Amino acid sequence: MPALHLLHIDASARPGVSGIHPHGSHTRRLTRHLVDRWRAVRPADRVIHRDLSREPPSPVTAEWIAAAFTPPERRDAGMNAYLAESDRLIEELRRADLVVIGVPMYNFGVPATLKAWIDNVVRVGATFGFDRARAEGPYWPMLPAGKRLVILSSRGDAGYDPGGRLESLNLVERSITMPMSYVGLTETYCIAIEYDEFADDRLSASIAKAEGAVDALVQKLTAEPVEVSPGTMSDEVATP
Ligand SMILES: Cc1cc2nc3c(=O)[nH]c(=O)nc-3n(C[C@H](O)[C@H](O)[C@H](O)COP(=O)(O)O)c2cc1C
Repeated sequence: MPALHLLHIDASARPGVSGIHPHGSHTRRLTRHLVDRWRAVRPADRVIHRDLSREPPSPVTAEWIAAAFTPPERRDAGMNAYLAESDRLIEELRRADLVVIGVPMYNFGVPATLKAWIDNVVRVGATFGFDRARAEGPYWPMLPAGKRLVILSSRGDAGYDPGGRLESLNLVERSITMPMSYVGLTETYCIAIEYDEFADDRLSASIAKAEGAVDALVQKLTAEPVEVSPGTMSDEVATP
């Protein structure tokens, strides 16, 4: 089987890792745990790490919109320059077979840096198509099929999972799965740590449970045959 590409994204503003650094990030702990476990099973796979807190993607601007909505053949050099960052982020996503996103809950939603990443990679004519006259419907995903998405989250309170007391307040997972399914990532797995604000035994139990769930997920995903898509290539990928 050819080497797979993992895109490892962290969005926590906390640079440290929980369990290693004081006041470290739980989502960084979970993404690192997943990648370490994955590498233990499949050491030849390639990992790109994108730290959205260290290198925040640019937000959408008027110039970006004008460039993105101009057909590629009519773009001038300035427009291409406005889209260069988006092009780079899209290329990383296009190559990825597995996308792992570490995402803290900030005010019930995702950090602004992750929203900026989503806005850069969900782009008309690049990752989804739009045609008013299309009989099957005006939108279609343009990324290669077969990618898998893992969302690893953490929250201060508890009860945000489906069926939980605070489920209706949780805007995190849906605000990622919705736009990602739009560009073609429909196979999604979500695992979260809760009780960070309480910092008691419930937090320790939640961390242990989440890490166990990550272990089981890695076992499942590495055991399954992977549909080789055009995103699976054997060439070298530069880390940013
Ligand atoms: C700016 C900010 C906003 C937060 N908003 C919420 C919230 O709405 N609900 C919640 O349960 N926890 C909230 N928290 C707590 C975080 O979700 C929690 O600390 C989580 O572990 C952060 O992820 P990290 O450990 O990867 O940094 C917030 C924390 C920060 C810093």
